[in-house]
Amino acid sequence: MKTIYSGKTKDVFELDNGNYLLKFKDDVTGENGVFDPGANTVGLVMEGAGRAGLNMTTYFFRKLQEQNIPTHFIDSDLSEATMTVIPATVFGNGLEVICRYRAVGSFLRRYGMYAQSEQSLDGFVEVTLKDDERGDPPISEDGLAMLNILSYEEYAQLKRLTKQISDIVKAELAKKGIELYDIKLEFGRHGQTGETMLIDEISGGNMRAYKDGQYIEPLELERLLFAEG
Ligand SMILES: Nc1ncnc2c1ncn2[C@@H]1O[C@H](COP(=O)(O)OP(=O)(O)OP(=O)(O)O)[C@@H](O)[C@H]1O
Ligand SMILES: [Mg+2]
Repeated sequence: MKTIYSGKTKDVFELDNGNYLLKFKDDVTGENGVFDPGANTVGLVMEGAGRAGLNMTTYFFRKLQEQNIPTHFIDSDLSEATMTVIPATVFGNGLEVICRYRAVGSFLRRYGMYAQSEQSLDGFVEVTLKDDERGDPPISEDGLAMLNILSYEEYAQLKRLTKQISDIVKAELAKKGIELYDIKLEFGRHGQTGETMLIDEISGGNMRAYKDGQYIEPLELERLLFAEG
């Protein structure tokens, strides 16, 4: 197995058959020991976070597959905390697509002059460049096209898929009395067909979820989501 990339929360390997293997680690993003899904540094280690993230990811990717939404998911192995996926090439050096239902986090830090904390945002989609050094700057549709990162058609597809996927996650959480405030997704082009597909993960580490007005940490979110009743 060849190591392709060692990320902040996952390692990426290439399998002999050409597929990729994602290994979920117990490292989570944050600062000074406090979890923050928007952070660009590993802030803390949470025992079991890798497996919990994979469990949630597997659950949601299977849900999306059932609805014929293109994803990289092939299979996962919970005991090993690994997921087999279709290799993708990312747009530029990678984008993050955020869907916002309530104003928190970086949205509020940027637009606090106009936005009220936790105001409803109706599934607002925004794209940021994965560029740790520059603090993951937001970029417009025109900016993405001008810099040849993606075409207008690809942008439209990205936005459509983001809304569709985020709405599904939101509805799933709502069944457990949990409200999704925002979620961060990643997309890539299918290694063979070039089709835009959802890649990476859908876990507590990529979203902000609240219950009864209280923010829920990733491990607790996974527990609540799979709790009986
Ligand atoms: N199917 C795929 N094909 C190619 N690369 C993928 C695929 N799925 C996920 N990746 C990439 O694998 C890496 C996973 O590592 P990790 O989640 O630790 O990310 P990171 O980029 O270091 O940090 P962050 O997600 O916080 O920006 C990411 O760069 C992600 O874009
Ligand atoms: Mg990541």
